[in-house]
Amino acid sequence: MINTAAQNLRACWHPVAYAHAVTDTPYAAKLLGEALVIWRAADGTPHAMKDLCIHRGTALSLGWVSGSELVCGYHGWRYNTSGACTLIPQKVASTAIPVKARVERFTCIEKFGLIWVALQEPLRYPLPEIPELENGQWKVVNTGPFSWESDASRQVENFTDFGHFPWVHPGLLGDVNRPVVPDHKVEVRDHVLHYTIVRPEAANTDDFPVFGNEQAAAPERRSRYELHLPYTIVLRLGWGGAKGMVYFFAAQPIDKNHCRGYCIIGRNYDLDQPDSVLQALRTPSSGRTSA
Ligand code: FES
Repeated sequence: MINTAAQNLRACWHPVAYAHAVTDTPYAAKLLGEALVIWRAADGTPHAMKDLCIHRGTALSLGWVSGSELVCGYHGWRYNTSGACTLIPQKVASTAIPVKARVERFTCIEKFGLIWVALQEPLRYPLPEIPELENGQWKVVNTGPFSWESDASRQVENFTDFGHFPWVHPGLLGDVNRPVVPDHKVEVRDHVLHYTIVRPEAANTDDFPVFGNEQAAAPERRSRYELHLPYTIVLRLGWGGAKGMVYFFAAQPIDKNHCRGYCIIGRNYDLDQPDSVLQALRTPSSGRTSA
């Protein structure tokens, strides 16, 4: 029996790595239970293929890249960017490379500093538009990735679960004296859920020197959420002035019980603050990570 939900997920973009992690050597990743090899051709373009050599089943991620071809480390078979075998070193000159000597390839792009893969086409949804992360004027900081032993939907749920903020992230995202979730309305437009919450903002402190407060008294934080199916959130924070922050969160569904979350933070203020400040945000006394 075909599992429709699983099939639908295969036709969506999912992150599989931070782009900077995919260099000139093959990178092993896993998506929806599928072992993948991610590699860059000579022009830097990323490619995704099944991590399985068609010859004897060796993981291609154990091989290497030569120009715009992926070389299997076991017997040296080579594959081009479309997955076709281009060279079998052991083959005698008079025989042709079999047509079936090819590796399954998948659609792959690089965007927002991440490598994205879709296992099936046509794609169900486009990626969000986030000009703040691409205009070159905002400071962009990569955090995580955060590996969980859970379904990817749990990470998305956690990211937008307002009820836990005062207890797990006091001072950063909430206040135990205000545990009630602010009133908000969810609007569904196409495949995106939109909602906004407004809360009193905390002061910048040594623990969390990150807010863009522009009013000395009673600043408010406006959080505008877009939840893009299946596992991606765009959160824009504002304080009533020109300062803004965007959190872009995307979870990689590795398999049924494992996922990895990538959280990219952009902002148009404190541009000289070291990345380590946002990357190391912790709750003040517990030492637990904010992710
Ligand atoms: S297993 Fe890959 S070339 Fe033999």
